[in-house]
Amino acid sequence: MSVRGGAAREIVICPGSDEVAAEAALRFRDLAREAISRSGRFTVALSGGSTPARLYDALAAPPLRDEIDWASILFFWGDERCVPPDDPQSNYRLANQRLLSKVPVNPANIFRIRAELDPETATAEYSDLLNSALNDPAPRFDLVLLGMGPDGHTASLFPQTAALAISDRTVAANYVEKLKAWRITLTAEAINRARDVVFMVSGADKAAALKEVLEGEFRPADLPSQSIAPENGRLTWLIDEPAAKLLSNRGA
Ligand code: 6PG
Repeated sequence: MSVRGGAAREIVICPGSDEVAAEAALRFRDLAREAISRSGRFTVALSGGSTPARLYDALAAPPLRDEIDWASILFFWGDERCVPPDDPQSNYRLANQRLLSKVPVNPANIFRIRAELDPETATAEYSDLLNSALNDPAPRFDLVLLGMGPDGHTASLFPQTAALAISDRTVAANYVEKLKAWRITLTAEAINRARDVVFMVSGADKAAALKEVLEGEFRPADLPSQSIAPENGRLTWLIDEPAAKLLSNRGA
């Protein structure tokens, strides 16, 4: 099936959020193996949210933890809250606590967003970091992991925010009025360069937005998740039953 932008998409409906996380973990392992055998490394942008926390737990536990070449993985983040790295809201902290501190990663391969700096400085710094770590002015991740909020936001691309209009940069500082807070986020343009983009969506509170995003009119300014359509990559939606309950087309 095709989406706007022409990318192929796969929709997988799982019974609950634990199964979404388990499926994401298997795909993470397989994509890591594929990328490492192709290029010697696997570059991934992690997300925040509750479903990724379950994914991290699945990856950090046997058998998967022993099936992944952790030292060959470069870890980045798709977005970050503007808080210090030890703040309970920090996406880095979540990934570090639940995954990175538990598996044999190379600490030099952890590229967090220093969102404790002012937003513009953190954005410029992270953008430079991406360019140099990935050795590309237009970096292409092997995998971008995403969640979706009940308002259709993804990463920190919230409805009707300035970052949605940015198409000439990889990273943006985005002020989110309803949170009264700044976020640092990859732009849709950067996410859409990835080889693989995997959404993890769980919970009945996402059902209405998910139906609009997947089956409704194309309104990416209101439903930023609609702007995700990898140009030359694969798009996968891992959805649990409660989030999928309003979908009419559940197979593709
Ligand atoms: C963040 C995220 C955000 C998240 C969604 C879904 O930093 O908050 O990256 O885009 O993925 O809000 O979050 P849940 O999985 O908790 O519903």
